[in-house]
Amino acid sequence: MRNCNNLNTSICFNYKRIGVTYCTLTNAYNGKGWPKISSEVFDGTKIDWNKFFEERSKDISAIQSGCERLECKNCQQIKNIDFYDDKKIRYVLLSPWQICNSNCVYCLGHAETISPKALNYFQYYEEYEEPYDMLSIIKDMILNNVLADDAVIDFAGGEPTLYPKFDDLVYFFIDNGFKNIIIHTNNIKYSKAIELGIKENAVSLIISIDAGTKKCHEKVKGVKSFDKVWHNFKKYSKSRKKNYTKRLCTKYVIVPGINDSEKELEEFIKQSIKNGATQVALNVYNQLLNEMNYEKALLNHLYNLSEFWILKAKTSNIQYMLFPNIEYVYQKLEKQPF
Ligand SMILES: C[S@@+](CC[C@H](N)C(=O)[O-])C[C@H]1O[C@@H](n2cnc3c(N)ncnc32)[C@H](O)[C@@H]1O
Ligand code: SF4
Ligand code: SF4
Repeated sequence: MRNCNNLNTSICFNYKRIGVTYCTLTNAYNGKGWPKISSEVFDGTKIDWNKFFEERSKDISAIQSGCERLECKNCQQIKNIDFYDDKKIRYVLLSPWQICNSNCVYCLGHAETISPKALNYFQYYEEYEEPYDMLSIIKDMILNNVLADDAVIDFAGGEPTLYPKFDDLVYFFIDNGFKNIIIHTNNIKYSKAIELGIKENAVSLIISIDAGTKKCHEKVKGVKSFDKVWHNFKKYSKSRKKNYTKRLCTKYVIVPGINDSEKELEEFIKQSIKNGATQVALNVYNQLLNEMNYEKALLNHLYNLSEFWILKAKTSNIQYMLFPNIEYVYQKLEKQPF
């Protein structure tokens, strides 16, 4: 049966311009943006959960009958999967701010810095208006029993650790027994809430580092933060208890011309192991797959880097994962990862 797993399970709290949506991925094929939850359901303060599930059910029926809303047309996420509706949400993306203390060359998701030298994110704090009260919406979800006990809670942004209510939210989820909290961070700012989440075996970290050496890290991230990032990472990994089963994952987004060398990848894996990572992840920046027009030489270059990286991860005995963009490179070349 035609269905979309995101629509079936998720809710996504974005920054003001985007609002609250059903899905967490852009439909790559039609550029209509994310499907928004209507103002009938969310009045800007509170979500009417009965209406939410009614609307969601109508949207799913529309997909099943092939007359989905415009945003969902031709979406790569529509698959043949069963639809069951237990009126629960199983995945929450929290991303209601764009503020960041980094300036990654590949990132489109952060507020632009005012001065290239001084990242005036404090100014953004002053100007930042919370689009809605996240914490009270989350409390209301729990009160209404719509959030599954094993729901995945995923923080992104901007830089989530800079969000004024970040620690409160993380503490709240931990206190309420949520054990699948994922935090995407650049790791520049240390958070006691993250540390507690690691101690409690409730938090996984996915850290965007993107380089193996200080010089290259500064080129990718636009700020001097290499030592700080690894220092914080080590501190988190030391706070793990024996029963820790989550992920401390370091992630590398390849940007050709900036960090696309074997030396950087190798150093990155060494640093990750030295500082206590449990997994390394590889990706290539989203825009590249559009920009390069699937040029064979570039695809082969990315493939070779990925193969090198897998080999190094395997011989170093560290778990690794490939993000969909890299998998796509393999698909295009009709090859399998090593
Ligand atoms: C938007 S960031 C927000 C969280 C946090 N600031 C960080 O860097 O992890 C979420 C994730 O998206 C990744 N990302 C951002 N822009 C990207 C792009 N153009 N292509 C691929 N990944 C991207 C980042 O590396 C990061 O892992
Ligand atoms: S079909 Fe695509 S655009 Fe629509 S909700 Fe699912 S992932 Fe989002
Ligand atoms: S740290 Fe994250 S949000 Fe900030 S610029 Fe880099 S990828 Fe974007």
